[in-house]
Amino acid sequence: MTEIVEKLYNTGNLSDGELKLLIETDSECVSSLIVKYADETRRKYYGRKVFLRGLIEISSYCRNDCFYCGIRRSNRNAERYRLSRAEILSCCENGYELGFRTFVMQGGEDFCFTDDFMCSLISETKQKYPDCAVTLSLGERSYESYRRMKEAGADRYLLRHETASDELYRKLHPKEMSLANRKECLFNLRKLGYQVGSGFMVGVPFQTTENIIEDLRFLQELRPHMIGIGPFVPHHETPFAEEKGGTLELTLKILGILRLMFPKALIPATTALGTISPNGRELGLKTGCNVVMPNLSPVSVRKKYDLYDNKICTGEESAECRICLEKRIVSAGYEISSERGDAL
Ligand code: 5AD
Ligand code: FES
Repeated sequence: MTEIVEKLYNTGNLSDGELKLLIETDSECVSSLIVKYADETRRKYYGRKVFLRGLIEISSYCRNDCFYCGIRRSNRNAERYRLSRAEILSCCENGYELGFRTFVMQGGEDFCFTDDFMCSLISETKQKYPDCAVTLSLGERSYESYRRMKEAGADRYLLRHETASDELYRKLHPKEMSLANRKECLFNLRKLGYQVGSGFMVGVPFQTTENIIEDLRFLQELRPHMIGIGPFVPHHETPFAEEKGGTLELTLKILGILRLMFPKALIPATTALGTISPNGRELGLKTGCNVVMPNLSPVSVRKKYDLYDNKICTGEESAECRICLEKRIVSAGYEISSERGDAL
């Protein structure tokens, strides 16, 4: 089996059959070889650098109803909030002082964030911080909306495809949502010149090895700049409350495979990975991850951006989160980069 890992390392690709064997084996020898090669590959292109993204969770209102997500509209018990323009700008100010050079404005699909509101917020942010990148993560919007926000100065957009299987997509989402539309959004974003981030959850209910391989193939087609994956973590107020979550072992293995298939990609060690294991993010960094996204949201709203149970970093001030992550990065053998961190 180790020869399959060698092949992946040397060629950056495998057949579906080989991927299936790699994903399904519980050989620790295979897993440690993946870690070793993933780390070598990231060091070849990025050295020991880890890029920071300051995450501002701008709204917990969402018109969508994804079965896995704690802020889905059907969750009547979710506490909703929406940051004002002044609050978002103050998070950016705070973040800039803490050394962040990317602000990620992420939220549910909230009708109140109109194109006019977003465009004016984006241009003010870019005017105040011309050396920073603005990343948006606001879900599915029209081509025209993406176009206007790009023109206003947005640099990047994160939209996970969630799963590249039509059948699984339908099991995770209400009927009014479709994989075709999600893919169209992603290709529109690319066409408009955004640096695009996509990705999926590991261990989501009904997911098979074949589904994961479909995700990898879709990513090969899309060629995103950033790939965000994390374990599925159940939320108690969703239809998947009683389901099992994704495991640390499988998530790390997929992270390593991603690094080997996409040597130059930006790959975050996600908050969900840190949630299922106390040193999950450090292990992610050692398995090819080169981005972390500390929380910059006001502490008063953090618990309300409640995508899944036991989410970490909800009690800390931004400065504490930044220090905590710096320690983790250094302890894992890497260093924080103060650059904007665009893809190579
Ligand atoms: N567990 C893990 N990740 C989740 N997300 C949403 N709900 C969950 C959950 N229960 C992820 C989705 C989404 C991103 C913002 O958070 O992949 O794209
Ligand atoms: Fe947020 Fe540790 S990274 S508290």
